[in-house]
Amino acid sequence: MTSAFAAAAANPAADPAASAGPASPLEIRAFDAPVGAEVLGLDLSQPLDQQTFAQIRRAHLDHHVLVFRDQRITPDQQIAFSRRFGPLQIHVLHQFQLQGHPEVLIVSNIVENGKPIGLGDAGYFWHSDLSYKEKPSLGSLLHAQELPAEGGDTLFANMHLAWDTLPAHLRSAVEGKSAEHTYLAKYAELQKRSPWRPNLSAEQVAQVKAVVHPVVRTHPETGRKALFVSEHFTTRIIGLPEDESQSLLDELFAHSVRPEHLYRHRWAEHDMVFWDNRSLMHLAAGTPDHLRRKLYRTTIEGDVPF
Ligand code: SIN
Repeated sequence: MTSAFAAAAANPAADPAASAGPASPLEIRAFDAPVGAEVLGLDLSQPLDQQTFAQIRRAHLDHHVLVFRDQRITPDQQIAFSRRFGPLQIHVLHQFQLQGHPEVLIVSNIVENGKPIGLGDAGYFWHSDLSYKEKPSLGSLLHAQELPAEGGDTLFANMHLAWDTLPAHLRSAVEGKSAEHTYLAKYAELQKRSPWRPNLSAEQVAQVKAVVHPVVRTHPETGRKALFVSEHFTTRIIGLPEDESQSLLDELFAHSVRPEHLYRHRWAEHDMVFWDNRSLMHLAAGTPDHLRRKLYRTTIEGDVPF
């Protein structure tokens, strides 16, 4: 159990978003997919009692992606729910914070008065959120604000399955190895193809110094192993020559996103999706340029991977 969960569970009175009321009748309906479940019977605009919170937390660990339909919630309510799971992380691209709510990153392709209102290419490459930090994200929550009539799906890859099914020669190649993760890995490439990547200030660059994490991490709450490398942020495997490192990473990336490891989320109005970055990678499948898409993202801090 992480310390944030442990603190909230051990001392409900310390949690301002908690309610002592009776548990709501909650149903967790698993998808016919390698990850994911829908949570029915919950209104996230209301404070959650401890029992309901514990059910959600358990479902999150079991299914890795939870979908809450038709949630008419404000940014403050999204923040309050997210905080139940731990402290929130502030994205380095402060340009795309929701005004008055620095914990909310606007994910959007909308341009107003010649200026992008959000990060339109978040998720262009497969990744686990904030894996470039010493403490990568525990999980992220994305709340739909405005959806395109077509496209705009989000794909999730089950990295436990990726590890469990990894061929023996790749397992032995990566066991005990570490890899470098950096926010800047694809930044210049993204900058060339989109209006969403402003030049970073020296202060922003200082916030995203490269870090090293194990290639195979152990989930701190379930003990399950997962591959923890991504095409967006992982640049090299420590201790290997450059060409060997790149070809090994390419094999790991290709294996991770095999179709049998994936769930594709097709967004509906007011969906809230909550995923586990310790178990998954995700990808934004893309939105046609002429259609508008806007979502609000909160990101919960996790542990140092081991
Ligand atoms: C993200 O990577 O957080 C955004 C995913 C999406 O826009 O579907």
